[in-house]
Amino acid sequence: MTQADYRDMMKQAGKYLDYQKDLFGEELFLENPDIFQGNQHSHSFGTLNELKEAIQDCQKCPLSETRTHLVFGCGNEHANLILIGEAPGRDEDLQGEPFVGRAGQLLDKILAAIGFQRKEIYIGNILKCRPPNNRDPLPEEIALCMPHLMKQIDIIQPKIILALGRISAQTLLKTSASLGQLRSETLDFKGIPLMVTYHPAALLRNPHWKQPVWEDVQRLRNLYDEIVGDKPKWQPTKK
Ligand code: URA
Repeated sequence: MTQADYRDMMKQAGKYLDYQKDLFGEELFLENPDIFQGNQHSHSFGTLNELKEAIQDCQKCPLSETRTHLVFGCGNEHANLILIGEAPGRDEDLQGEPFVGRAGQLLDKILAAIGFQRKEIYIGNILKCRPPNNRDPLPEEIALCMPHLMKQIDIIQPKIILALGRISAQTLLKTSASLGQLRSETLDFKGIPLMVTYHPAALLRNPHWKQPVWEDVQRLRNLYDEIVGDKPKWQPTKK
């Protein structure tokens, strides 16, 4: 093993331990101890496709028994912006793509209103498989699924994260604060600016959240222009 290989292996091991600590505190679960035995490539997913292939038959939790498809995520591997929802619903489970149902159509409109197309960003979820009857994800499901999302974020290296809805925001920020409390600030997820807004499905049920969402996404677009600045300057044209 060369020194560079050794450094790489130690880096991988450090990252793995950080994931474990973030998810489970001081308790250590050695899901795949190969990285400590010289096989530094066992945890190294260079691309989203490699990661997708590695987890597509995931059976870590019982949701794998009821899913039609594992919904990995979609969009641009090099996206500057990643949107993170809660979990696939019925349409997403059937089609294997995130946010393709009514909430997804609304999300596309919200994105278009601030000058984004789905293909230029990345969209993922806290859980990759649909909870029966769209119930809230269980803490153990979240704990088992989060390492997948963490690896996706690690590969994409987004410059901004938008958490869609309470479950996503509370999970990523490890807080029990309400969405109302979290939504008007720019927060931090491991050094990446994170903003929060209402979930589009909640917006379909409560249209009075349209105005706060509009305010949130305008702030998101302004922050994007400030940090990334790879698009023509944006001006709001519609509400
Ligand atoms: N709701 C979510 O949180 N994610 C989806 O992919 C679809 C609906």
